[in-house]
Amino acid sequence: MKLNTLKLSNFRNYNKLELNFNDTLNIIYGNNGVGKTNLVEAIYALSITKSFRTNNDRNLIKEGEIATKIEGEVETNTTNDYEVIINKEGKKVKIDKNIISKLSDYISNINIVLLEPDEQILFEQSPSERRKLLNIELCGIKKEYILYLNSYNKILKQRNFYLKELFINGNGSYEYLDILTNKLIEYGKKIYDYRQEFIDKINKLITKKYQSIFEKGELIIKYNSDYQKSVDDILNNYKKNYNKEMAIGKTLYGIHHDDMIFLLDNKDIVIRGSNGQKKNAIFAFKLALIDLIYEEKGSYPILILDDLFSALDKYKIKNIVKILSNNIQTFITTTDLDKIDELLLKKAKIFKINENSFVEEQ
Ligand SMILES: Nc1ncnc2c1ncn2[C@@H]1O[C@H](COP(=O)(O)OP(=O)(O)OP(=O)(O)O)[C@@H](O)[C@H]1O
Ligand SMILES: [Mg+2]
Repeated sequence: MKLNTLKLSNFRNYNKLELNFNDTLNIIYGNNGVGKTNLVEAIYALSITKSFRTNNDRNLIKEGEIATKIEGEVETNTTNDYEVIINKEGKKVKIDKNIISKLSDYISNINIVLLEPDEQILFEQSPSERRKLLNIELCGIKKEYILYLNSYNKILKQRNFYLKELFINGNGSYEYLDILTNKLIEYGKKIYDYRQEFIDKINKLITKKYQSIFEKGELIIKYNSDYQKSVDDILNNYKKNYNKEMAIGKTLYGIHHDDMIFLLDNKDIVIRGSNGQKKNAIFAFKLALIDLIYEEKGSYPILILDDLFSALDKYKIKNIVKILSNNIQTFITTTDLDKIDELLLKKAKIFKINENSFVEEQ
């Protein structure tokens, strides 16, 4: 996958911007706060239609403006024009100028893998953030995943509502609760299968990545899910706990509680891992993901290394780049070109961002 061109209108600190990229390596450099991360955030948003650092799409609109547009020409098996338009009412996405009404038809096309300096935060956050990561990656690999996830969430909402109804008003029937429960299990099991398969495949790759870049150690992801049982057992568990769920007015079991536990040498990295080991574990996960995307899609994702020099030394970054295929288009942001290996600099296209958000090619 290659991003040939990027065009921005009123995105973050950029008014108008149009860039042509190199197929292999692109380096974006400039002082703190000039808009380096904004630029790679735009590339990410072109793919996922969302930012990686804000949940509010409106933050992407340049201050004082009413809408932003990100356009990019992306080469996969074919070359297509992608477009994301965000305004205060919502967003629209287009491929080759045609509006795409189902987001699932859009976000499964461009795959991005992003490495950031503070990745270890993922281990300090709630399981919902780790599920979000799983969901984003699975949406990019399996087009139909998001449809099952949306169906599950819809039934979950109905079920929670019905549990409250049954408890507070006493009207309603257990038969209907059974129907909702069965539906929930039906969609939930699908999601469970996708997640399990994804984690199994990552596990086949992750230890090798971890060892080749960082240090000794066996890294494995354990998938924790209430649905790690037969359908009958899941159903029985719900039935046993109907009263408890009604009292709380919430569905207490299901794939909306799933989590990924990273085990380094069989020990939970959250409890036993050092800060560095946590960071490395996520990096190894992302690198395994690159290979998995290649296996699933037949094309490498676009790789973004944002400000990685603040997290890793030159040697580790060189190791990362060394194990990457030359076929991976990579974007690196940095404040300091001296931190980048000379051989890498030679093959890169370099973009310098000045204080006034002006980007010049060097
Ligand atoms: N919606 C917005 N409208 C206008 N400017 C914005 C908007 N959002 C962020 N900015 C500006 O973008 C700048 C930050 O850009 P960015 O995070 O890309 O910097 P950076 O070059 O990555 O810096 P660092 O080296 O510190 O990581 C800030 O000056 C901020 O004021
Ligand atoms: Mg930055």
